[in-house]
Amino acid sequence: MTQPEQHFSVTQAVAQRRSVRAFTDQPVDLTLLRTLIERAARAPSGGNLQPWHIHIVSGDAMTRLKTLMAVRVTEAPMGECAEYAVYPPHLGERFNDRRKGVGAAMYDALGIERGDLARRQAVFAENFQFFGAPVGLFCTVERDHGPPQWSDCGMYLQTLMLLLVEAGLDSCAQEAWALWPRTVGDFLRVPDSQMLFTGMAIGYRDGDAAVNNWSVPRAATDEFATFHQ
Ligand SMILES: Cc1cc2nc3c(=O)[nH]c(=O)nc-3n(C[C@H](O)[C@H](O)[C@H](O)COP(=O)(O)O)c2cc1C
Repeated sequence: MTQPEQHFSVTQAVAQRRSVRAFTDQPVDLTLLRTLIERAARAPSGGNLQPWHIHIVSGDAMTRLKTLMAVRVTEAPMGECAEYAVYPPHLGERFNDRRKGVGAAMYDALGIERGDLARRQAVFAENFQFFGAPVGLFCTVERDHGPPQWSDCGMYLQTLMLLLVEAGLDSCAQEAWALWPRTVGDFLRVPDSQMLFTGMAIGYRDGDAAVNNWSVPRAATDEFATFHQ
């Protein structure tokens, strides 16, 4: 069933997008999704390289991947060897505080104590079930591409996430999948010349889920923007 497209301003779409970590089982219309995937390719990229490679997983393929991952995460909760560092080894206080702050806010909303590692691990493992979303997306990049092309991929993904909001859909980008490069690479038959950047859950938000109902902080503008005049 195609969802009627709502007419959000860009400002509204930006404000409404959030990382959604619990989805209903309402299916996503793949024709609509294909349209959004195509539209998002209007995202800018240096030299118009359009370096993103996008894989969509749904239906039987999604069932197979979720089944596979349910086993893998119990065999190896820490995943495989990641092919890139999601964070630098020393984040620095400002960034570390932000990272810890968002985690603490989420676990608070879920009523999970700081020391309850088992429940935290269970929440993290939900990444590999796409938080219950019916559709998963993966973005892979050429191995010999560098930071500018990875940044271009980010522009593509944010453009897509805003278009998803406009279409009444939700998403959560998931670098957690970087822990599983071989499993995902084999599953998607990614050529050796490419590597996995990120996954993304796509579907309709479960509006009642506590994990979707907490406010995600942002730094004050003066912390990151300098106006030179
Ligand atoms: C590239 C990228 C990867 C991310 N990976 C994960 C992830 O693996 N799991 C997760 O729960 N959230 C992930 N997030 C979501 C961030 O935690 C989230 O964007 C941030 O806390 C700000 O919250 P908001 O998206 O709700 O505004 C990711 C976001 C981005 C942009």
